[in-house]
Amino acid sequence: MLLEKMLQSQGFGSRKHCQQLIKTGAVCIAGQPVTEPKQRLELQDLNFSVYGQDYLYREKVYIALHKPLNYECSHQSTHHMSVFDLFNEMLIERGIQCVGRLDQDTTGLLLLTDDGQFLQALTHPKKHVPKVYRVITADPITVQQIADLMAGVELRNEKGIFAATDVQALATQELVMTVHQGVYHQVKRMLAAVGNKVEQLHRAEIGQLGLQDLAQGEWLYLTPEQLLAAKNQSTEGIMTI
Ligand code: URA
Repeated sequence: MLLEKMLQSQGFGSRKHCQQLIKTGAVCIAGQPVTEPKQRLELQDLNFSVYGQDYLYREKVYIALHKPLNYECSHQSTHHMSVFDLFNEMLIERGIQCVGRLDQDTTGLLLLTDDGQFLQALTHPKKHVPKVYRVITADPITVQQIADLMAGVELRNEKGIFAATDVQALATQELVMTVHQGVYHQVKRMLAAVGNKVEQLHRAEIGQLGLQDLAQGEWLYLTPEQLLAAKNQSTEGIMTI
């Protein structure tokens, strides 16, 4: 691939802007400035630097974010900060999107990518991977509520029955549950349907990928193994980040 095209693909701006960057000597490969925009490159394991900052060429990006409280998943957030404020300009320029959404008052694991096919596969209504949520409730959780969540509830304007699996009370007003779809406000509506109310919501796992050490607001690029884990339909054998 041409150097100018590679830089553009990584989010460094328009082709013209990338040509200018290259001509000024800002771009180095193997420690040496390359000033010819049409220089051909082998992309495999390509490292380069721009103004002394090191980068690895990535055909697509797959990101895990620990979404903080009071951040919205939309680009044009109205009342709160946007999760996109947490990323550098290059990733924004690459067009990263959230894989599904978390509410502004939900924390936890959120995936972002610029791979349209991956986004579609993971958000397809028939292909949802299981997601584990930790819920703090407004009222004490009853045995009946747990049974009702597992038996399944109807949600207004949604087709079918929404059942949780592996529902477990962790404390009087705290439970963990796995859901297998991804409809709007699903967990909050399911808890309301069984007669309780969500006070705090945290997504702990997607597929076999679990959140452990990432602090709120921190993110990382997923390795191929972590990416596979996030797509897995099983929640056994969690890989943590
Ligand atoms: N269910 C909800 O109600 N909210 C979320 O953010 C995620 C799942």
